[in-house]
Order: sequence, then C-alpha cells, then structure tokens
Amino acid sequence: MRYPSEILDEIRTRLPVSAVVGRKVRLKKAGREWKGLSPFNAEKTPSFYANDQKGFYHCFSSGRHGDIFKFLMETEGLSFPEAVERLAAEAGVALPKLSREAYEQEDRRKSLHEVMELAAGFFEAQLQGRAGGAARDYLIRRGLSGEVQRGFRIGYASPERFALRDHLAGKGVAAEIMVELGLLVSGEDVAVPYDRFRDRVMFPIADGRGRVVAFGGRAMSADVPAKYLNSPDTPLFNKGRLLYNLHQARKPAHERGTIIAVEGYIDVIAMAMAGFPNAVAPLGTALTEDQLALIWRFADEPILCFDGDRAGRRAAYRAIDLALPSLTAGKSLRFALLPEGQDPDDLLRASGPGAIERVLNGARPLVDLLWARETEAGPLDTPERRAALEQRLRQALGAICDETLRRYYREEIDRRLAPARGFERRSFGRGAEGRGRWSERGERHVAGRPAALTASPLLAKSALFLGGSASSPREAFILSVLAVHPELRHDHVEALAELDLAGRDAAAVRSVLLDCAASGEAADPAVLEARLARAGLAESAAALGARVGPGDRWALDPHADPLRLADALRQAITLHRRARTLHSELRAAERALAEDEGEANLAWLRAVQNQLSSVEGAEADTDELAGREGLRDA
Ligand code: UTP
Ligand code: MN
Repeated sequence: MRYPSEILDEIRTRLPVSAVVGRKVRLKKAGREWKGLSPFNAEKTPSFYANDQKGFYHCFSSGRHGDIFKFLMETEGLSFPEAVERLAAEAGVALPKLSREAYEQEDRRKSLHEVMELAAGFFEAQLQGRAGGAARDYLIRRGLSGEVQRGFRIGYASPERFALRDHLAGKGVAAEIMVELGLLVSGEDVAVPYDRFRDRVMFPIADGRGRVVAFGGRAMSADVPAKYLNSPDTPLFNKGRLLYNLHQARKPAHERGTIIAVEGYIDVIAMAMAGFPNAVAPLGTALTEDQLALIWRFADEPILCFDGDRAGRRAAYRAIDLALPSLTAGKSLRFALLPEGQDPDDLLRASGPGAIERVLNGARPLVDLLWARETEAGPLDTPERRAALEQRLRQALGAICDETLRRYYREEIDRRLAPARGFERRSFGRGAEGRGRWSERGERHVAGRPAALTASPLLAKSALFLGGSASSPREAFILSVLAVHPELRHDHVEALAELDLAGRDAAAVRSVLLDCAASGEAADPAVLEARLARAGLAESAAALGARVGPGDRWALDPHADPLRLADALRQAITLHRRARTLHSELRAAERALAEDEGEANLAWLRAVQNQLSSVEGAEADTDELAGREGLRDA
C-alpha cells in the first residue's frame, strides 16, 4: 500500500526520530545528534545514533538504518501500513483512505513534478541557447558565471507568448495542467492561456528534496512593472512553507551548524559565491512562522541577515515577535544587519567575501534587537516614558514560553534597565547634578535618528547595527577628542571607522567625523559644527562631550598637550575594543550558562566578568560610575 509522500513527510516533521527512538533507547545528546546503546545488539559503548535534522537513525554495530517508520517495523515487527497508522495517530495527522482516486492523485502529483522538471529544463536550455544571449550577458554583468548559472539551474523565458506552452504541449502535457502549475496565465477574460513568464531570467524553486515546484522570474530591465514575478501557490508549491535553496543549503547548514536566511534569490547565490552555501531566502514574502520552524530544524541559532535600512530593521523586528514564543534553551536567532542600502549581493561585489564574513561575524543576539526595538520607539525623558519602556519589554518577554529562558531574559533586561533606575536614585540624592544627567540622557534619545544618515564607505564596513544603550564615557571620550582635535582624525580614521559603538547617536556622529576627515576640509571647527547641525546631531555631540568623565576633560581643550593627547586616545581605543570584545564574550558565556548551569560555565562567566571590570573600570555600571566620580570629586 502506498501513502502520499506529503503525508509521510508531515508525520516525520511532527515526530523527531529522537522522540520515537527514545522510547526504546536511552539517548544522550551528542553534538547535533543523539546517541545511545544499540537496541539490536548487546553493547557497552554506544554506537546507535539518531539525527533529527536528517530524520534518520543509524546503528553502527548492526548496520541498520532508517526513519521512524522503519524503526517501528524493526523493533516491534509492525508492517509498514501499521507503522504509518500508529505514528500518524500519534502525530495527529489524518490518513486519507487510500482509494483508487488517491492512487490516481498520487500518480498525478508525480506527473506534476515531471512537468515542472520539463519546464525547468526548457528554461535552462533557452538560457544557454541562441535566445539566451542577452540574458547570459545580464547574468555575467551581475557576476553570475556560467558555473553558477548551472549550479542554481538558472534559465531564461523568451518574450514569446506561447514558447513554454508549445514546448510542453509537444511533450503531451495538457494545458489545464500547465494552468494548475501556474505556468500559464488563464482567466475569464483570457481567451487563450499564455506563458506567465516572458522575457525573464528564471530561478527555479525546489522543494526540500530538490524537485522543482515553482519559479521566480527576474525582469532584465528596470521599466518592467514587476521586478520579480513568482509562481502562484499550486498543489506543489506553498510559498509560506518553503525556502529558496533549502535543498542545497541543508547539508552545509548541518555540517557548519548554522543556516543563514537572506532576503532575495540573488542574495542566496551571492552568499554561496562568498563561501556560504548554507543560505536560504523566503519567497517574495516576509519570513513566516513555518519558515522559521524549518530553519530551526537545521541549526540552533540561524542567522537572519537583513538590510541595514529601515525596511530591513522592520523585517528583523517582525522576526523577533515570530521567534519569541518558540525560543528555548540554546535555540535562538542571531541578526546580521548589512550596511545601509546594500544587500549581500551588492556588498559582495563592492567589498568582497571578507565583507560578508564580517557582517555574519557581527551577528547580534536576539536580546540586542529586542532592546533596540523597544528603546528606539521614542524619547525616554520622563518617568512615564521609562515606565512604558519597562512595560513594553515585560510584555514582549511574556511571549517567551520557555520558563527558564524567560527568567534569563528578564534578568538580562533588568540589567539593561538598571542604569536608568540608578539615575533615578542619584537624582534624588544629588540634586542639580543628577537632574543635569537626566537631560543628557533625554537628549540622547530625542535626537536619535538611527537610520536617517547615509553611511560613508568606511562606516559601511564597520558593525553598523548596534543596541540602543548609552555611550560609555570612554566611547564619548574617543568621539569628543576627535571632534575637538581635527589634526588627530587623519591618523585614526581606520580605527574610528571600525570602532564598535554602543550609543546610537555615537554611530551617527562618527559618520559625520569620517565624512569630515575624508573631505579634507576638516581643520576648521566651524565646518564640523555645521555638518553636525545639518545632520541634526548638534545636541547629540554636545551630550557626548558631557559624558566624558571629569578626569578626562583636559583632553577636550583645543590646546591640550599633543603627546599626552595622542597617548590617551590610543589607549582609549585599545581599551574600548577590548571591552567590546569582552562584552560579546560575556553574552556568549551568559548564553552558555543559561543552557547548562554547570561549574565550567559559571567559572567562564566569572572570568569574563572579572576581565571586563578590570578593562572597564567602573564604567559600565552607572551606580559605580557615580561612586568613582564621587571619589574624584573628593
Ligand atoms: P529585492 O528587491 O531586495 O531584490 O527583493 P533582490 O533580491 O536584491 O534582487 P536584485 O538584486 O534586484 O535582482 C528581495 C526578494 O523579494 C522578492 C524576491 O524573492 C526577491 O529576491 N521580490 C522582490 C518579489 O517577489 N517581487 C518583486 O517585485 C521584488
Ligand atoms: Mn540585490
């Protein structure tokens, strides 16, 4: 007896091998697999493996190998239909009565796949043939070599209205089937159904097993209304449940332990050319919950890679809401934000594979994005607004279903909120000075214009997307010194561009400094001032200046000793870099501890905390900062 393969796949998706096997075999997690003692042979050393991503178990001692159905057949002596029935019931999947009709439908489905394969082959041949000259030129111009074209099975649909239809008809395919597969456009007002894809570069979209189920077609000129045209949903294709390139990405994703989701077809291809074959993309819509679940099957911490512009941020923020309910210990997302206005394809061609790698290495944990989203929402200059922030954050965290994880998220968010509360305490105790501080923080947020500024090329290379926390006094020191002393900018332009900055306005101010340095007209302080004012950053720059610790203010004097100044700046940059590295490590350690509360992880966390506090002095924490300033004042 045969069952539709979709149904079997659905059961496999809902019941991980480890769950089914785990009832007979005690399994232990071993990397991305599970292992245990063979149920088929008596043994002392585990040689039995289950792999949830692949949906298989493998027993090295007996050589037995199979999926969940096979496992029940081998360990309980069930027949295949019995195993399917049992597991279908468990998974809550309804089995169709296998009637004659169902058999026919299954056959038909198979023939639908065959038709799609014929279409893909036709488009491929068109691209490589005489009709495809302009399309090949177009692809080469975009950096997609013949080899890449073949690897992704790229094709070309000619401008004629009936080219594909006639080709398929010649192979005995009924027009009705072509309509059903979305290859032809039909409708009440269409007398004769005609080819949907005309004069477009064709990207075949395959299902998880590599069978072509749909197409995306790219227009070659800019004046065509739809840049991309995609297949509609069909019996073979559901655009919200599939990802472009999944079939080719799954193996490298599994091997590397991570999978990257980008926004477009060409971006996936660019990633592969840059050495990241483990990239996928949604199909013309925002990432869906199903697609998120799909990529989580291949990696614990997939990287979502978005444009650095507002639309990209919005997409990232949407993904947060999608992900929060499903987060569990160790299962999360990272977000890599590209320089504004560039997608992976642009970045690869402008700056090479190294730039892609840097963007991916700079991927931020979800908690950073969540924090950025909520703190970006508006000014935090009144107690009511700060309370609202706290409420929004709590509400967001409430969506996390996993209790342990929710606790760790609360702690982390509390830690980030702590400085604001610290200020509150201080401003009561300290009168005028405290109030002054408040307004600085207020301005920081009022003037925040995260994405409005275009990045200079140097800035574009640096880690652009940063949380929403305040600049540390050291960060403020570096930027302010470079603002006051134009003569130092030239020597530090690279270091400045690469600096990982925490304050949102800090990055914007830096961008203006870099522009100034690049244009060479920098010596006149009035020029910088005018540029800052034009960018709406005058107040932010002043606020940065005010954050410089009292012990360091001498450096803001235009006549400060140049040698001492250069030394102090160099040291500040070194320490700042070190601190930012340690911050990332701290987060990694915290995550490890959340996953496993063992001694080793605790020790790691303590070690990082110690190093961090020695590098930062008391800088990171505002309460301590107050203490230190108090000492200095005394
Ligand atoms: P983009 O507009 O970012 O295009 O759309 P792109 O991927 O960078 O492509 P090039 O470089 O201009 O050729 C991202 C994705 O959104 C879908 C496609 O899947 C595209 O890859 N899209 C875009 C559409 O479905 N239709 C459109 O008209 C535009
Ligand atoms: Mn592009």
